[in-house]
Amino acid sequence: MSTDIENRQFRLARRPSGLPEREDFDLTTEAVGPVGEGEVHVRIDYISLDPAMRGWMSSGKSYIEPVGIGEVMRAFTAGTVVESRHDDFAEGDHVTGLLGAQTHAVVSGDQLNKVDTSIVDLPVYIGALGMPGMTAYFGTLDVGEVSEGDVVLVSAASGAVGSLVGQIAKQQGASRVIGIAGGPEKCRYVVDELGFDAAIDYKAEEINDAVRRECPDGIDMFFDNVGGEILDAALANLRVHARVVICGAISQYNVTGHVGDTGYAPKNYLSLLVNRARMEGFIILDYIDRYHEAYPSMAEWIASGKLSHKEDIETGFDRFVEVLRMLYTGENFGKLVLKV
Ligand SMILES: NC(=O)c1ccc[n+]([C@@H]2O[C@H](COP(=O)([O-])OP(=O)(O)OC[C@H]3O[C@@H](n4cnc5c(N)ncnc54)[C@H](OP(=O)(O)O)[C@@H]3O)[C@@H](O)[C@H]2O)c1
Repeated sequence: MSTDIENRQFRLARRPSGLPEREDFDLTTEAVGPVGEGEVHVRIDYISLDPAMRGWMSSGKSYIEPVGIGEVMRAFTAGTVVESRHDDFAEGDHVTGLLGAQTHAVVSGDQLNKVDTSIVDLPVYIGALGMPGMTAYFGTLDVGEVSEGDVVLVSAASGAVGSLVGQIAKQQGASRVIGIAGGPEKCRYVVDELGFDAAIDYKAEEINDAVRRECPDGIDMFFDNVGGEILDAALANLRVHARVVICGAISQYNVTGHVGDTGYAPKNYLSLLVNRARMEGFIILDYIDRYHEAYPSMAEWIASGKLSHKEDIETGFDRFVEVLRMLYTGENFGKLVLKV
């Protein structure tokens, strides 16, 4: 039935050097294939832009296979069922899945999650109630072990993950939560709308001085999305038994150099020793079997307004690469999503 419908796709044409370019991708068109037994045809309505996509394009050793040259770019998506030959899905259902940067997908129903858009809007299921939300939840509570009275510092604090981390930390009784963000508008948002106690504009202030000023008695938990000099400034200000959560290092994702060069190496790591502190990385994919633990609380907090979230919805499938680049230049404000 679906075969006369056109599917448009962004396929990886070559591995980027530095910031991804339009020429790193081919825009292809093909007919949507027939829907086999147990399969579902999904029209993709929203594509999630995630900083990790840059790593997925590279061939170096990672936690997941790189996207192959010629393959549709890997992407989290949310969409609507057009046709179903799977008992759990019917036409018109809303679903999420790792369906890639394309306008349509025919996949096994087992790869899809049905979502209820009467609770929150569809894009939120790839944002605050999707992978970034789960990252904030488990990163803060499980890896960061935030608890009452903690001083918490968060980088990329106005973004999809960071904005939730600070709010969850507050809910857990953190005594002071400080966000780091680029520019006055994002800093105002972090304090006035998300309820952080203070914000540091890393583009306007010397980061070491600012962290020292905002955390005069040190940091119990640093949730790092950025890496580089910001990580170093936090390391220099740890408290005894601090936890440094390595969620991401977006300042380093487009660094070019020798093969195997991973960018800026932190200088202040001996602070971990002096303070008997812990620095630990995590990958949210390892928590998929535990999403059910987070989901009810996150859904309740979001639906009741206890957790603020913001989606930055850009429109136009053809703009995929241009919109993706916004993450690495800080032009996005909130969870970056492409409306197809
Ligand atoms: N470990 C995991 O499983 C996992 C899962 C999801 C996400 N992550 C990581 O979490 C981090 C945040 O992801 P997100 O989806 O929430 O993105 P996001 O924060 O919504 O967007 C990225 C933000 O990073 C900041 N940024 C970009 N380049 C920077 C630089 N050179 N220096 C400092 N800040 C820079 C920008 O904010 P400013 O304008 O404030 O600079 C930009 O808006 C990323 O590192 C991502 O890889 C990890």
